Formats: sequence, C-alpha cells, structure tokens
Amino acid sequence: MERHLRALIVEDNPADANLIHEMLNQSRDLSLSLEQASRLSHGLERLKANQLDLVLLDLSLPDSRGFETFAKAHAHAPDLPIIVLTGLDDRSLAVKAVREGAQDYLVKGQVSGDLLSRSIRYAVERKGAEQALRASEERYRQLVENATDVIYSHDLVGNITSANPAGGRIFGYAAEDLEHLTIWDLVDPDYVAETEQMIQDQLEGVARAGPYEILARNKSGSPVWVEVNPRLVQRPGASPEIQGVARDVTERKEMEEQLRRQERLAALGQLAAGVAHDFRNLLTTVILYAELSRRHARLPDELDQNMKVIIDESHRATDLVQQILDFSSNAMIEPRPLDVKAFVRSTLKVLRRAIPEDIELALETEPGPQRVRADAGRLKQALTNLALNARDAMPEGGELRFSISSRRGEEEPAMETHRRGLSQGSTLPAGEWVSIAVSDTGTGMTEEVQEHLFEPFFTTKEVGEGTGLGLAQVYGIVRQHDGYVHVETAPGEGSTFFIHLPVCREEPVPPAPRSKEAPVARGETILLVEDEPRLRQAGKSVLESLGYQVLTAANGREALVLCGLEKPAADGEVPPSLGDKGAPLPSANAPVAIDLIITDLVMPEMGGRALATELSRRAPDVRRIAITGYALDKQDKEALREAGFQALVRKPFERSQLARAIRQALDR
Ligand SMILES: Nc1ncnc2c1ncn2[C@@H]1O[C@H](COP(=O)(O)OP(=O)(O)OP(=O)(O)O)[C@@H](O)[C@H]1O
Ligand SMILES: [Mg+2]
Repeated sequence: MERHLRALIVEDNPADANLIHEMLNQSRDLSLSLEQASRLSHGLERLKANQLDLVLLDLSLPDSRGFETFAKAHAHAPDLPIIVLTGLDDRSLAVKAVREGAQDYLVKGQVSGDLLSRSIRYAVERKGAEQALRASEERYRQLVENATDVIYSHDLVGNITSANPAGGRIFGYAAEDLEHLTIWDLVDPDYVAETEQMIQDQLEGVARAGPYEILARNKSGSPVWVEVNPRLVQRPGASPEIQGVARDVTERKEMEEQLRRQERLAALGQLAAGVAHDFRNLLTTVILYAELSRRHARLPDELDQNMKVIIDESHRATDLVQQILDFSSNAMIEPRPLDVKAFVRSTLKVLRRAIPEDIELALETEPGPQRVRADAGRLKQALTNLALNARDAMPEGGELRFSISSRRGEEEPAMETHRRGLSQGSTLPAGEWVSIAVSDTGTGMTEEVQEHLFEPFFTTKEVGEGTGLGLAQVYGIVRQHDGYVHVETAPGEGSTFFIHLPVCREEPVPPAPRSKEAPVARGETILLVEDEPRLRQAGKSVLESLGYQVLTAANGREALVLCGLEKPAADGEVPPSLGDKGAPLPSANAPVAIDLIITDLVMPEMGGRALATELSRRAPDVRRIAITGYALDKQDKEALREAGFQALVRKPFERSQLARAIRQALDR
C-alpha cells in the first residue's frame, strides 16, 4: 500500500489552492493530506515546524516573487522535494528552478488530477533516490579520503586525474598538487619500463597473480616502494583510464632487503670459513717448521734470513685468513670488560702513525664510564680498518673523528632484529649501548657502494690496493660481540660508521702481561693427539724442542691404547700414526707415564672431548689441553671445562704460546 504523504501548498490565490485540493481529494491512487500557506514567510515557518514530504510552491506570492521564491524555500529545506507552480507566461523561470533542484513544475490551468498525482509521486521517489545516492557518495568519499592506501586514477599517458590525501602524504605533496603531476614524476627511472608494462598489461587484459611492485620517489627524492593493484576503466563516452590502489610497502621492502643482504653475507661467510680453516692448518705447519729450522745450530745466516721471510709472510697470510674468519664470525674472541674511552685513546695513538699528517684526528667523548665486553685485539682491528678506509677516502686530507656516546635502544627487540642487523636510520633494540662513531670528511659513498659494503672482496680500489676484506672483517667482529654496525653517508658528504656494542657493568681488568720467553720442560711426557699427519709431526718437533718427551696418536682411541687404558686393535697391528719417527711404541705391559695430553677436538674414531671424558674417569691425573681451529661459543667452552680440559689453544699457535699453555696446565 502507498505511504501516506504530507504536503504543503504555498499559494496565495484561494481558487488555485482549492482546485488542487479538489484534484487530490479525488485521486484514488494517492493518500495525501494537504496544508496550506498563503505567504512564503508562513510557508517557511511550517517547513520548520512540520514533518513534511513535499512542497507545492507558487512562485509569485505576496512576499516573494519569481525564482527567488524557490531559492529561499530550497535553501530552507534542501532535502524536501519541491514542485513549482507557475503561470503560463513564466515557464522559463520554472525550468530554471528545476535546473537548480526543483523536482518538477506544473503550469496552472493545465493541470489534471492524473498529472498532479503522478508528478507528486515521482517527485517524492526521485528525491528519495537522490538522497540515498548522496549518502552513498558521501560514504565512499569518506572511505577514499580516510584510506591509508593511495587511491588514484590516471589517463593512459600517465597524467594523474585523481588522488586521495594518502597519495599526498606518502609522496610528500599537497594532495591537490598530485593532480598536476604525471606518474612519471613519481616513478623511479629504473621502474619506468615496469610501469609501462603494467599499463600495457591492463590494455591487453593480462591477468597477473599479484600486485606490481614499483619503486617511486617522494618529493624530496627518497625511495618509496609501492604495491600497485591497477585496473583499466572504460566508461562509455569517457576516455579510458587506469584506476588503482597503491600501498606503501617501503618498510617491508627495506626489511626484506636487509634480510637478503644478511643471508648473502652469512652464506659467503660459511663458504669462506671452510677454506680458511684448511688454510690455517697449512700455515700452522709452515710456521712451526720454519721456526724449528731457525733453531738449528749450524744454520747458515742466509738460510736463517730466508726462514725469517717465510715466517713473516706466513704471518701475513695468517692475518688474511684471520680477516676471513673474523668475517664469518668463526674466529675465537676473548671478550673482557673494557673501558671504551681508554681503549679508543690508546688505539688512536697507534693510528696516528698510520694516518698522514694532513688528516686531523679528533676524539669526542661524553662524561661518565662507558664499558663494553670486548676482545680488545679484535675491536682494535675493526677500528683500524675503519680508520684506514677513512684515510683512503681523504687523499687530500681532512678530519677523522672518533665519537663515543651512550645510547638507549627504544625498540622492543623483535625476534629477527638480531639476524637482520641494523639498517640505516633504524633504532637500536631495547637496552643500553655504547656507540663508537668513526666519521671522515672524505668522498662519501653512492647507494650502489653502500649496497655491497660489508661483503667480502667488495672493493672499489685498484688491484693490489685493497682486497675488500676490511669491512667484512669489521662486520664479523661486531656481530661476534653482539653488536651492530651501520653507515651514514652520501657522495661528497663524508661517511660515518657506527659501531654499537651492548653496555657492560663489570669493572675492566688489565690483562696479565705476557712474556716472550717460551718456558721449557721439566722432564714431563706429553701425548699429542692430532689426525692431520703434518701438523702432528710439526707439533711433535715443537714439543721436543721445548724438551718434552713426546708420544703421538691420530685419534682418541689410539691415545687410550698409548695410555694403557685400552688394548691395541685385535690383530695386534700397530696403527701407522704410532710409527711416527721417534715415538716409543706402546706396550700393554709397560705403559708410559703420561703427564699431559694435547688433543685436537675433531678427529675420526674418537674425538678430543670423548677422550678427555674417558680420561676423567680412568686417569684423572693426566692434564689436558685442547687445540682447535674452530670457533667455540660459551657452551662449547663450558663443555670442554666439564670434560676436564685445563686450557684451549687455538690454531695457528706459536711455539711460545703453546709452551706457556703447557706450563700452566702442568704447574696448576
Ligand atoms: N670511509 C669510507 N669512505 C668512502 N668509501 C669507503 C669508506 N669505507 C669504505 N669505503 C668503500 O667500501 C669499499 C670496501 O671497503 P673495505 O674496507 O671492505 O675494502 P677495501 O678498503 O677496498 O680493501 P681492504 O680493506 O681489504 O684493504 C672500499 O673499496 C670503498 O669503496
Ligand atoms: Mg679497507
């Protein structure tokens, strides 16, 4: 059934008003009650007071005439449908009113009952539909304006035709300015082809699984990564355009990039570490033999000089290997509490000699103690590498500044932060940090160079001038200290490298001074267990040169045989390693008294740890030293202590170093 309508007629001529009244009363398909006002002012008051559905408005009233009558009524009740009543001679006025929002007009004297009721019904319905449309438009407008993603459109050559406020925000423009730009003003030059392809895909109807990822630049030129979902829209009578939604994914992209870089570095590190271990063993042998040869009493001077060169060069090779191992975080560090200010000061003194006069060295500090747990040797290496790079970046001279400051990390330590390292401008994980900044006034770096900076063998220097291991080593050293390294730089603006290390509360202790002298044997016997024959032989010679009785074995099992703790293999065959020149053969009846076992950790059959555990049970008096080329973490070291090792010596070791460790273990 039809809804009951309430209408107001504003008409000063009683005859006209009555006529309409009559017509409506007779109309059977319209349920309507009609009020009347004879002046506009009265009519407007009724509008205010009553809930009405419709107004029939005569344009010429005693207090208002012509178009103005409509304008006033409409302004008063913009949501109310108005039908204008007019005389024959001012039809044009009525047309104008319809153009400005009246629903319809009726010419007095030409109105029939049917026409009137149809006009009223349509007016009410049309107005209702209009209102619904306006409300829905408003809703969509709000959605678009408040969206956090960019909602935009552009024509097929790229002129931006609309963009919401998010677009302005993300690209750093006033939203209305965006509409004067083209998408080519935003897209990074490297992504123009991709963007053209995107438009082409739309024109050809190519469906693509995911969004397009496009690199854009904001107003100040900083990178903005957007994920774009475009759509070709073709409306009849309008030129086709691309509409789309673009989401700012810069943060995610940067994280991914960072992660990718870390993973690449980790893979390179593993690769390098494998080679480096073998190399280090070779070098250990070379150095030990050369040192032994120099101890020969009748060695001619010339050969002695040659030996010295071999030793020096091997040490340099060892340094290179060390860089690789540092990078792969596979080196052993011995961290202890360190006063950063004192440490940097003393490092600067050494550096002064390596840095040319025309580079000024400066140190900037904050009051208060700044302590970290660090391996002073490794950290000094890291700072030296940074300083030498800075020197190379300032061929004309400049300033090299070290700044030490305390920082507080704000961010909750995200699960991944640690693996990710720290990208430019990121915040440090929660906690307290000591930052050492090394800044130069040199050439600075392009983004391209920054991209590969910490990769091993990445260098921009001439062959022979740089191996590209310096920063890789810095990276590895800092990571091993649970710290972060990052750089801030731009071409022509110098560079600042930051090393952030976790604060340590313990008091620093000065390391015990080391004597160069190698302490010698006091009649003890040592069993050397090492699976690599040359290293075993070299080690044996070194130990003998220190005056020890030496037995050798190639693995834990053989060692137990030598100690008389296990029978030789069933067929009584002597393993080849036991036949090493000069080694007394074992006899189950008369086992040799062994004071100390020096053992490699990873060996076939039985490794060093299993051997030590066995000894703890069956021969607890025998002292134990582990030698290893692998990096050990806290837990590994704890496990070694539990297995009864008194000391750990890392390869490559020097004669005096081994000698000291032996005496310490024996004299405890
Ligand atoms: N302070 C700096 N200013 C400008 N460029 C730098 C700076 N530090 C490093 N670089 C750039 O980074 C590259 C890599 O540095 P890295 O220290 O790893 O290797 P390298 O100095 O080239 O060689 P190496 O340190 O092994 O002798 C350098 O070749 C240089 O292009
Ligand atoms: Mg370098």
